[in-house]
Amino acid sequence: MFTGATVALSLISLLLLSPLGFGFSPPQSSESLSVIPITPTTPSNKCNKQDKQVLLQIKKALNNPYLLSSWDPKTACCEWNNLMCDEITDRVISISIRDSPEYTNFKGNIPAAVGDLPYLESLSFDNLPYLTGPIPPTIAKLKNLKQIFIEKTNVSGPVPPFLGQLKNLLLLHFSGNYLSGSIPSELSQLPKLQSLKLDGNKLTGTLPASFGYFKNPAPFIILSRNQLSGNIPTSWGQIDSEQIDLSRNKLVGDASFLFGSKKRLQRIDISRNLLSFDFSKVEFPIKSLVWLDINHNNIYGKLPVALTKLDLQRFNVSYNKLCGQIPQGGRLQSEYDKYAYLHNKCLCGAPLPKCK
Ligand SMILES: *[C@@H]1O[C@H](CO)[C@@H](O)[C@H](O)[C@H]1NC(C)=O
Ligand SMILES: *[C@@H]1O[C@H](CO)[C@@H](O)[C@H](O)[C@H]1NC(C)=O
Repeated sequence: MFTGATVALSLISLLLLSPLGFGFSPPQSSESLSVIPITPTTPSNKCNKQDKQVLLQIKKALNNPYLLSSWDPKTACCEWNNLMCDEITDRVISISIRDSPEYTNFKGNIPAAVGDLPYLESLSFDNLPYLTGPIPPTIAKLKNLKQIFIEKTNVSGPVPPFLGQLKNLLLLHFSGNYLSGSIPSELSQLPKLQSLKLDGNKLTGTLPASFGYFKNPAPFIILSRNQLSGNIPTSWGQIDSEQIDLSRNKLVGDASFLFGSKKRLQRIDISRNLLSFDFSKVEFPIKSLVWLDINHNNIYGKLPVALTKLDLQRFNVSYNKLCGQIPQGGRLQSEYDKYAYLHNKCLCGAPLPKCK
């Protein structure tokens, strides 16, 4: 789901991580400034000693996995796999560890030592079912971090509130882990956040009201497949995000304020909750909305005629308490069959049987 946007964001992050981006960072140290122009950048000296030591600690903490066999103390660390150095400073700016089925000896917690790579801009642990334990507090030290991905792992414990202090974070993606507890309200303090993905965890509690006060523009908010409950805070009516996915939780009450004719909303999925509100009064952002999934809730009222004006790529209102004539036109009949409308109280008209 939402892959187009994810690709776009990845491109943004690649650009941000390119060596060109370095021009905007302060000099790392006077030593490196004087050394770089006169020293040829042969592979043998491309390694910061401190970083190398930390990387070897990380490798050890992860039980010396085969995946990291290129992390050989005899070679220059900037040549190792699964990481990237800044071309000018040779400091490690990116670590990306993703497993594949053949590497079965990958075990352990996220090493606390990752916090000792002060120039790290990107940290990624992906597809590591044997990566366990909590998100270590040492990550709070990584003030240059622009993106953090912990996805499809067995990492558990809370989403730490200290993440709200990492002011350069653009992407915070923790999809598909065993994270529990509630969503920390501190995340709304991240001034540059573009995408927050916490889907597929064990998160509970209510949605933080503070998310109504994200700096403009609001990030993509993807919280599906958790156990989030209670009402959506009315402050969320101020969120002006392009993508909101709250599907497969236990949210109740009103969600109509997430919509609005003046918003930039493109994709919204609130399916499989216990939401209950009058759909007749919802106003859609006609120019932008292409994805509307509200299936499996207790949403009532009529389908607004404005739905015929939307260029809907995904549309599903099934399993609600909607009633009345389905508006005719737009994509509502040409692109969607009865399965987008079934199991409501008394919806009628094409593609369902005629109204009586
Ligand atoms: C991951 O955690 C779940 C739940 O605690 C457990 O059932 C599963 O066996 C764990 N997987 C691995 C590979 O440890
Ligand atoms: C709508 O959702 C229902 C329930 O999940 C599903 O059975 C149906 O196939 C979906 N239809 C469309 C058009 O997405």
